[in-house]
Amino acid sequence: MTPELSLIVPTYNEADNIEALVSRVHETLASCCRYELIVVDDDSPDGTAEAARYLSSQYPVKVIVRRGERGLASAIAEGFGHAHGDVLGVMDADLKHPPEKIPDLLRYIRNGADVAIGSRYEPGGGTEKWTWQRQLVSRVARSLAHLLLPSSKKVSDPLSGFFLLRRKVIQGIELNPTGYKILLEVLVRGKARQVACIPYTFRGREAGDSKYGIREQVNYLRHLLRLLPADGGVRRFIKFCLVGSSGVLVNMGLLWLLTEVAGLFYLASAAIAIGASIINNFVLNDSWTFRDRRTPGMAARLMRFLKFNLVSAVGIGINMGILWSCTELLGVYYLLSNLFGIGAAMLWNFTANASWTWKPGSVTSSRHRIAQKLSTRVGA
Ligand code: GDD
Ligand code: MN
Repeated sequence: MTPELSLIVPTYNEADNIEALVSRVHETLASCCRYELIVVDDDSPDGTAEAARYLSSQYPVKVIVRRGERGLASAIAEGFGHAHGDVLGVMDADLKHPPEKIPDLLRYIRNGADVAIGSRYEPGGGTEKWTWQRQLVSRVARSLAHLLLPSSKKVSDPLSGFFLLRRKVIQGIELNPTGYKILLEVLVRGKARQVACIPYTFRGREAGDSKYGIREQVNYLRHLLRLLPADGGVRRFIKFCLVGSSGVLVNMGLLWLLTEVAGLFYLASAAIAIGASIINNFVLNDSWTFRDRRTPGMAARLMRFLKFNLVSAVGIGINMGILWSCTELLGVYYLLSNLFGIGAAMLWNFTANASWTWKPGSVTSSRHRIAQKLSTRVGA
């Protein structure tokens, strides 16, 4: 019989933990679902694989040994490839992730979530016995993900190593599993629509047993950078800038045409040119940059146009303010001040429009909606 859940457990030197893990998983899951536990071991010198194989006579455990290869995320990806379940799960072998939480996560999946994430950052969750240094590193890493990868923004713990997902989320998708954080790959490249975050407490550790060091932190940064272009945010920003440039062309072109060809006074031409470029930018952003975020209907479109104008007006204020203060207070050459002003205004325009004019939450095609309705339904 095919299992409902395939739980992938990557291991490197976990011989001391594997038996406790397997028996606790079994105690928890035996009564709640059909499952298989897939241990992916990178040929640990401490005999983890042998220990796990020994357990497979008694429990639904499969053991995969990779030789000449190391890496947490790639081990998990390997495990996915051997899984039969419709639901795939990932957890650590060292009991830092409580197996007793799995049924909770599974319940969310059964109720419609595509990904259910064990989160240390939901109310009720946390970390035990972490030094403040590790807390800090974790928080900085998490903020970086939120900042750079829009797909992770609403996920309270995008770096979690404890989660379940529906197979279809990653079906046909090429994950690029380097480093530790395979969940980021899933969130950015995968096809999840409903993501649920469920609090859990990361169990305490004795100092030094983690394999996560400076090297993994550098790898993490490289991973984030590699995911940048795969996520919507940067592409959207580039589109927004291209639209802005097209607006400049429209503005300059009309200013010249109306003044030189139609013979208007240049300030009158400028007023028309500015109006035209604003309309140009709005139409292009609405039908291209933020196409997937439109709510249908004329009224909604007018509302967006109004918001777009308000945002631009504030943007002009920011531009002027910086131009004035850099030039007058700091003595910067006025054309250079203006560049700073334009840069700041662009950032403001993009952020405000992306989060207000074309709000992500109210949209059906938004990729990640935290299953709030779901959680009230499930929690009840
Ligand atoms: N196959 C394989 N190959 N497994 C590995 C490797 C590897 O190269 N490196 C680590 N593992 C296994 C460990 O045996 C353990 O089961 C799990 O992956 C996590 O490794 P740890 O070294 O114990 O990670 P950690 O405790 O520092 O990090 C945890 O916290 C992170 C969030 O702060 C993990 O849960 C991460 O997944 C999580 O992102
Ligand atoms: Mn660990």
